[in-house]
Amino acid sequence: MTDVPGYVLGQSADAARRLQLQDRHFAAPSEQLLDDLALRPGDRVVELGCGAGGLTRRIVSRLGPGGVVVAVDTSAGLQAEAAAALAGAGPGRVEFVTADVSQLGAWLDGADVVVGRAVLHHVPMAEFLLGQLRAAVRPGTRLGFLEPDFRTPLARLAYQEATGAAGLAPLRVWATAINELYLARRISPCVGATLGRAAEAAGYREVRSGWHEFPSDGAVVENMRMFYDEVRGPLAEYGILSAEENAEQRKLLAALPPGPHPGVWGMHRVTFVA
Ligand SMILES: C[S@@+](CC[C@H](N)C(=O)[O-])C[C@H]1O[C@@H](n2cnc3c(N)ncnc32)[C@H](O)[C@@H]1O
Repeated sequence: MTDVPGYVLGQSADAARRLQLQDRHFAAPSEQLLDDLALRPGDRVVELGCGAGGLTRRIVSRLGPGGVVVAVDTSAGLQAEAAAALAGAGPGRVEFVTADVSQLGAWLDGADVVVGRAVLHHVPMAEFLLGQLRAAVRPGTRLGFLEPDFRTPLARLAYQEATGAAGLAPLRVWATAINELYLARRISPCVGATLGRAAEAAGYREVRSGWHEFPSDGAVVENMRMFYDEVRGPLAEYGILSAEENAEQRKLLAALPPGPHPGVWGMHRVTFVA
């Protein structure tokens, strides 16, 4: 699989497996997002950054034979993983478009719904995309996003550590590293936290926001270890974690006693109407 330059995370089959694992911890907010968007069987749903198809599968299962998901991503490799994983997922059709979502194109035409999960934070200055989307879609188009936040929960973790909680360092180091990596790449790690306000500023209506947090259970900790593996190179290149520190952090995460431990990772759910 050839990696598309510009995207900081992996696009290999292993990265697709991490996204599939992640889809399981994103299950509740993902279903809630699709409930809030009130998907109809015949909707044309444009999904930004479909990746390995975890959210796509959830959308397709809600569509009827007349419905379609236009699944846009820069990574043809991840789209191939998605195509394989989506075989038989539902009666709705899936059309893959390999494109950069920050450059709006004909793939947006006729959308009833625009949706994305964990994609806007990979787009530099994602607010521009939000405003341009409003100008491009038809009035009445429903939009919804789930965006992660590895930063807000650090306030609780810091309090817990300052008041004597022990053993939380591997979680703190991981959450700090992912934020620092995204900041080094000038992408938008905090966009979820301000997305509702940004949607209002762009003139969208019926803006609704929610917050979901994931306790650091075995699956979340495994995802963190896979992340370290996936971005070992960029973390070292930006001086965030050397290869040795990376290996050490992977070991420390593996050695955590069975949790769940406090969450260092949550998601903002935001829906609005053009
Ligand atoms: C963290 S993954 C999330 C994948 C999927 N939405 C999910 O929740 O499982 C982010 C995805 O966004 C894609 N992506 C990042 N920047 C993009 C851009 N500018 N245009 C299109 N896709 C992009 C990546 O290739 C990757 O598949």
